[in-house]
Amino acid sequence: MTQEEIKKLVGQVAADYVNTQVPEGATIGVGTGSTVNYFIDALSKKRDRYRGAISSSIATTYHLISHKFQVFELGSLESLPIYVDGADEINPHGAMIKGGGGALTREKIIAAEADIFVCIADKSKLVPVLGKFPLPIEVIPMARIALARRITRLTTGIPMLRLMHNGKPFITDNGNEILDIYNLVIEDPIMLERSLNQWPGVVTIGLFSMLSANLCLLGTKYGVQRIDYEKNHLSLL
Ligand code: 5RP
Repeated sequence: MTQEEIKKLVGQVAADYVNTQVPEGATIGVGTGSTVNYFIDALSKKRDRYRGAISSSIATTYHLISHKFQVFELGSLESLPIYVDGADEINPHGAMIKGGGGALTREKIIAAEADIFVCIADKSKLVPVLGKFPLPIEVIPMARIALARRITRLTTGIPMLRLMHNGKPFITDNGNEILDIYNLVIEDPIMLERSLNQWPGVVTIGLFSMLSANLCLLGTKYGVQRIDYEKNHLSLL
């Protein structure tokens, strides 16, 4: 199987999981990325089972609408039974680096509201220690240079402004910029997330350690493996 075929299979297995675990008429939280797009494709076969979706990005909203899902504002919901999203890295405890697609802030907001976070990924994303994938941080543009200097001074990290193909800064759906931090070895994700969260000008850290996954559907060339995590981090928020 190619990596694309594995992602497609994970998307299908995630849709099967949601179709069997989530009651009819529910609204589903939907992340961003190529694996999530396969999930949306697969879920659309049972679209009428659902009231609609909460979307984590403009790109996902377009994809949902192309499959005729109704997209709702997060604030219109009393509760969200499930959130399904990809990851750039996931460690053995379900902590993740996210934000490769630049949607980390809305992803984290939705993850915080969901009863269950289901991570969907291929096996290349499973790592013993987070940090090989550069850690995205969404920042207020005014603070970007000061934050980059602070990161260089206080961590081993090497911050790089995320650029688009045309050389201009990547701008998030919220109008901010992203610093990608290379060269981190994240032995204690909760401590790092907590500490970076305090820095003025930081909007969101792409570390999901306090809002880690409840379970991961991990695609391999032999099929999809389900990993359940013990979740005790929420009280830390
Ligand atoms: C977007 C994300 C994505 O979930 C992450 O980048 C994984 O994407 P893909 O499924 O395309 O590998 O965090 O901000």
